[in-house]
Amino acid sequence: QTVALIGAGGGQPKGGVDHGPTVLFNEGKLVSQIEALDWKVEVEDHFPEFVHLKPNGNDTFGILKNVKYTSDVTHKIHNSVKKACEDGKLALTIGGDHSIAIGTIKLGVIWVDAHGDINTAESTSSGNLHGCPVAFVSGLQGPIPHFQDWLKPEFDLKRIVYIGLRDLDGPEKQIIRENNIKAFSMHEVDKWGIGRVVDAAIQYLYQTTPDSEEEPAEHVDGLDPSVAPATGTPVRGGLSFREGHYIMEALHQTGSLVAVDITEVNPELGTVMERETTISIGCSLVRSVLGEGLLY
Ligand code: ARG
Repeated sequence: QTVALIGAGGGQPKGGVDHGPTVLFNEGKLVSQIEALDWKVEVEDHFPEFVHLKPNGNDTFGILKNVKYTSDVTHKIHNSVKKACEDGKLALTIGGDHSIAIGTIKLGVIWVDAHGDINTAESTSSGNLHGCPVAFVSGLQGPIPHFQDWLKPEFDLKRIVYIGLRDLDGPEKQIIRENNIKAFSMHEVDKWGIGRVVDAAIQYLYQTTPDSEEEPAEHVDGLDPSVAPATGTPVRGGLSFREGHYIMEALHQTGSLVAVDITEVNPELGTVMERETTISIGCSLVRSVLGEGLLY
């Protein structure tokens, strides 16, 4: 089997998160770690082409920031992920911030995150595009300059399941309720345990996604900041080290994975220790989704 390892920057203005892929590749030695698990790896790092295109203050649409920049980045990633999937490879995208999901989402998604990232241009109070990808891909958000040139907002909200939510904006709660979106917040994880929550999430997707393929996004801030501190929007009370890895293992076991995103590792935040812990958990989540840790 082959992993297409795609490195991607992103669209929120706090610097550093763009360097996520580079540090996971270089310091984390991600490529050799994957090879050690008997997967072939093809690296496609978009970081070098985008690092020069620093977003500027005029690149806005209403309150939304870095619109053309993020559209360019996500369009590129979109093409890479699409190509990898068509070629039968597992598309593994390393962010970057979570705006990259505008480019990566296709079939069904397990979205592991403290945040819903389902704000529209109207509902966002930050104007940061990493808080908006689910609204963009599903058409909850109407046409936006640049994105409208390439993005077909046809993702069906029946095909997303959230796990780990604990920091929704008021309007996001309303959007999730109104659209009846399947969501397991940390409350359900506490109540049922991660095993039952993941089973229910996978079952739900098999029902709503007829082609029975799923494409989960694991997002580093789904994890508790005590295990993954170097991230831009940490929220306490998140998934434990094992809960995060359990999700990855369970997804590996489905045998239906087509793509995985790891986002929001920001190597410029936190102490030296916090940075290292976060890089290493990013890598171990990847190994986990590729089957490390499972005997059978
Ligand atoms: N809801 C907040 C916003 O819209 C926070 C989003 C955090 N998202 C993330 N991908 N880290 O700005």
